[in-house]
Amino acid sequence: MLHLPSPDAAQTWCQQQRSNGRTIGFVPTMGSLHRGHLSLVKRACSENETCCVSIFVNPLQFEDSKDYNAYPRNLDSDLTTLEQQGCTMVFVGSLGQFFPEIVDLQEIKTLGAGRYGRGLEGTFRPGHLDGVRTIIDRLFRTVGPVNAYFGEKDFQQTLVVSDLAAQIGYPQVIVCPTVRDESGLALSSRNALLSSPQKKQAHSIYQALLAAHQIWTTGERRPETLASTMLEILNNTDLGVEYAEIRDPTAWTETTPETPLQQAQALIAARIGGVRLIDTLRLDSRHTNETIAVAQAGSGP
Ligand code: PAF
Repeated sequence: MLHLPSPDAAQTWCQQQRSNGRTIGFVPTMGSLHRGHLSLVKRACSENETCCVSIFVNPLQFEDSKDYNAYPRNLDSDLTTLEQQGCTMVFVGSLGQFFPEIVDLQEIKTLGAGRYGRGLEGTFRPGHLDGVRTIIDRLFRTVGPVNAYFGEKDFQQTLVVSDLAAQIGYPQVIVCPTVRDESGLALSSRNALLSSPQKKQAHSIYQALLAAHQIWTTGERRPETLASTMLEILNNTDLGVEYAEIRDPTAWTETTPETPLQQAQALIAARIGGVRLIDTLRLDSRHTNETIAVAQAGSGP
């Protein structure tokens, strides 16, 4: 596996790959890799001739510098894991290297997240999805991938990134199922910041999503009722709920209480101690089976 120290070096290498006719599959990450990331890398390796991963903790998407500083970083073990997974090239970089044209990095102007940035994360983490769109724009232009792989857990991010890809004309954005631990907790780099009792409590997030799914299967289609079912569970815990909402995953407008949904995405954000967790579940059956992909306990990082 090639490990390149800058976006510039990565861009040159990717250009060579493309001119040799090799297709590039790309997995952007902020490192501290877990089995969720590895499922993306595995898929990128199997569906493309070249698998490229970036590791960059992007300050533009952190509205809180404490959160940015606390974000787990494990470069050495990430590199070992990626090599074992069959990744072809991994690159890292600094903010200055991603924006070489900007002298004062405080002056970087972020792109607007677009229509899918409204509500939910857009409300509770103002500027976060703008920062994501901005760095992903740079990353896509650096790598020039045919396919890019993202986890469904960050559902709103997948909408914003797909919108960007539609705007610039590439890549195909492939949204992959959430990987969960044996309790159902969605894998996230932030889980490393939770104590064991906190992890147990965080399990209620998935329970709430499953409860919404359960009443969906009995024919309930009213977004308010589906959301109340989730809140009933979450409000009985010590979790600080930011949102527990049901949205039409395609229209992405706020739902009205009376309008029954044909397709529905349940989305939750909650804080436990100082750690913020998000999770999601598609309620209409076409997608639910692949989302409920509970990983085997203790296999891999
Ligand atoms: O999901 C993440 O890890 C980040 O938001 C991403 C997509 C790598 C952009 O920094």
